[in-house]
Amino acid sequence: MAGRKQRNRRHRGAPNGAGKKGNYDRKDAYYRRAKAEGYRSRAAYKLLEVAERYQLLPRGGRILDLGCWPGGWLQVAAAVAGPNATIVGVDLKETEPLPGVTVLTGDVRDVAALEAVRRATPGGAYDVVLADLSPNLSGVKSSDEARASELNDMTIAVAEAVLVPGGKLLMKTFMSGETQAMMRRARSGFSSVRLTNLAASRKGSGEQYLVARDRRPRAPDFG
Ligand SMILES: C[S@@+](CC[C@H](N)C(=O)[O-])C[C@H]1O[C@@H](n2cnc3c(N)ncnc32)[C@H](O)[C@@H]1O
Repeated sequence: MAGRKQRNRRHRGAPNGAGKKGNYDRKDAYYRRAKAEGYRSRAAYKLLEVAERYQLLPRGGRILDLGCWPGGWLQVAAAVAGPNATIVGVDLKETEPLPGVTVLTGDVRDVAALEAVRRATPGGAYDVVLADLSPNLSGVKSSDEARASELNDMTIAVAEAVLVPGGKLLMKTFMSGETQAMMRRARSGFSSVRLTNLAASRKGSGEQYLVARDRRPRAPDFG
């Protein structure tokens, strides 16, 4: 049993290592359902679940998806927000085109990617930012947590930069020593912030989703 299955498991845990203990079944019920229903990823069911719970995808809204490949969340966003919505996705990997969706290839940590994201919507502003970003895992807990934390900080900064007042952020996160600091950071920019677990998350993945609503208006800049 020390064959391929065992080796794959080593690389699939959360930054806190929680996934290493779980019974990882890559082709679980959500995976099979996604295949049958034409979604590009099983992650689509996470967005369907959380978007309904928190009303995250307004019809005709401007929606930005950070870490969008292969595009399951983009499919859900396009279907729920409808034909008048503006849906923009960005990922390090090239995403196959989707009707009615703008897909960009880039690193969300680069200024160039943020500029491209702004150019992709009228006025450069969004109503909703989604982020299902996963860092490349090294297997070393401290450095994996640092990478995940860097992506979370970057996501909150991007959301604060592009969201309209009242806007919403949905962000994947992993429980770690940085969680409380991340919550404080999010609360400084949003009136309502909470962490939620989703039924569609893989058992033992250690992932949670931060839902931040009501982006606070920016302080006037007198400089
Ligand atoms: C779990 S997948 C997203 C799945 C997607 N929500 C879906 O429904 O299909 C995470 C993605 O984050 C992307 N990613 C990680 N770091 C990134 C970065 N710095 N900039 C852009 N994308 C990044 C990865 O390339 C990967 O495709």
